[in-house]
Amino acid sequence: MSIQTDKIQELVERRAQARLGGGEKRIEAQHQKGKLTARERLALLLDEGSFEEFDQFVQHRCTNFGMDKTHVDGDGVVTGQGTIDGRLVYVFAQDFTVNGGSLSKTMSEKICKVMDMAARNGAPCIGLNDSGGARIQEGIDALAGYGEIFERNILSSGVVPQISGIFGPCAGGAVYSPALTDFTVMVQDTSYMFLTGPAVVKQVTGEEVSQEELGGAAVHSSKSGVAHFAAADDKEGIQTIKELLSYLPQNNMQSAPVKPTADPAGRADDALNDIIPDNPNKAYDMYGVIGSIVDDGKFFEVHKNFAKNIIVGFAHMNGQSVGIVANQPNVLAGVLDINASRKAARFVRFCDAFNIPLVTLVDVPGFLCGTQQEYGAIITNGAKLLYAYGEATVPKVTVTLRKSYGGAHIVMSCKQLRGDVNYAWPTASIAVMGAEGAVDVLFKDAGEEREQKITEYNDLFSNPYRAAEKGYIEDVIEPRNTRFRVIRALETLKGKRQDVPAKKHDNLPL
Ligand code: HXC
Repeated sequence: MSIQTDKIQELVERRAQARLGGGEKRIEAQHQKGKLTARERLALLLDEGSFEEFDQFVQHRCTNFGMDKTHVDGDGVVTGQGTIDGRLVYVFAQDFTVNGGSLSKTMSEKICKVMDMAARNGAPCIGLNDSGGARIQEGIDALAGYGEIFERNILSSGVVPQISGIFGPCAGGAVYSPALTDFTVMVQDTSYMFLTGPAVVKQVTGEEVSQEELGGAAVHSSKSGVAHFAAADDKEGIQTIKELLSYLPQNNMQSAPVKPTADPAGRADDALNDIIPDNPNKAYDMYGVIGSIVDDGKFFEVHKNFAKNIIVGFAHMNGQSVGIVANQPNVLAGVLDINASRKAARFVRFCDAFNIPLVTLVDVPGFLCGTQQEYGAIITNGAKLLYAYGEATVPKVTVTLRKSYGGAHIVMSCKQLRGDVNYAWPTASIAVMGAEGAVDVLFKDAGEEREQKITEYNDLFSNPYRAAEKGYIEDVIEPRNTRFRVIRALETLKGKRQDVPAKKHDNLPL
């Protein structure tokens, strides 16, 4: 054998060894838990044959606690570039089989390298996290590594989409970095997000809690809102990331890809003319309206199980990617509370950052009041949504279906807060508040005249025409034509330009 052949053989062997990460036993343990390995996840995520790995031979430099005797080529993360549906992405996947995927300084350098490439080359960065956080043996070096990752998360925010998969027990920096990204996908029963795991929690606070109760997918996708998606397994989690990407542009200078459709832009839906119940206090399902107006009835929902009184997600309208925000009368009458405001505000800001037009469907009785909401800062949280819509310069089309009362009317992309095209159905009621509440404030002693006053108020305000007469909405439209009217409005707004005053950055009410 020539020297060259020997050297090539060495390369082949080192690559094969590196691909084993922490070794076959640990790979087996990973599979036993129902989890895939870092490389298996990347193979599912990326187009076949598109993955180019970087830094496969990078090793950690730690010598503490016998670490100098445990070197694995590539250390605990697999990084590189590839394509998804032919579009370039940068990726890193933490390898739990190597020291529990915990982050060494060299791992952070690998991750920072792909994050820098993503930002420089204008492509999304996807991180698949399965890590116990900062590598304890490295001390300050590991913390420094997280500082450098966070810096890139922050500087890339609003420049390229950043998506995090949480595919195992993730702690410390391994959850704070995802929290700085745009979307987080968790996997049920095998992934957890917490500052630190149950053992340390017990030691610090005395609290005994399981991983699931502390930071499982159910907790974070429904209670805290930390996770945007909860998938059944790794495979579904990867699929969710791929589908999400299909609605997004590569970076903030581009538009999202157009998805051709056979669904006619002019398709009317008679069912919408009957969807609003006669009784204004009766609920109906907003999903029915969304499904009716978007291309092929396909709606990709974000934060499905969190703050269900508002619905947010992506769809296509005549091929164009749009962000949908809609009150859900079926849950808490569609009221805006703290969580609904936070959820929608974050979504609106994402769409605005990445040139995705917003379609808002309004049926909102107002903000939820009371001590629980006030103590939790509904004022500041409600202001987030107000701020998000007000600062957004992407095309904004609003349709008011029924109630649009008070502060909630202003918040939900009204005309005066830079809404571009605002329509209302004939069933719309745009007022400071509902009739009964208004009469009880204005005519405390109305007695027997209360009903008559309510009728008077309803005649005056329970329609869209007061707003239409003043030009506060562009038109009153027949519900069946909503798809067509929204699509036409979006077409006309394609060339929209709107500036914001020069500033260092805004001061969103946090
Ligand atoms: C070094 C670690 C590690 C870590 C896990 N391991 N976390 N090694 N540093 N942070 C190692 C374990 O020793 C073990 O090695 C292997 O990974 C698998 O871990 P297990 O504990 O056996 O797995 P599991 O029972 O599934 O529990 C996973 C876990 C738990 C919940 C992540 O390991 C854990 O609580 N780890 C510590 C979490 C933490 O507090 N991290 C520091 C956060 S501070 P062997 O060889 O025995 O198999 C931080 C600062 C960032 O990140 C700044 C934020 C702002």
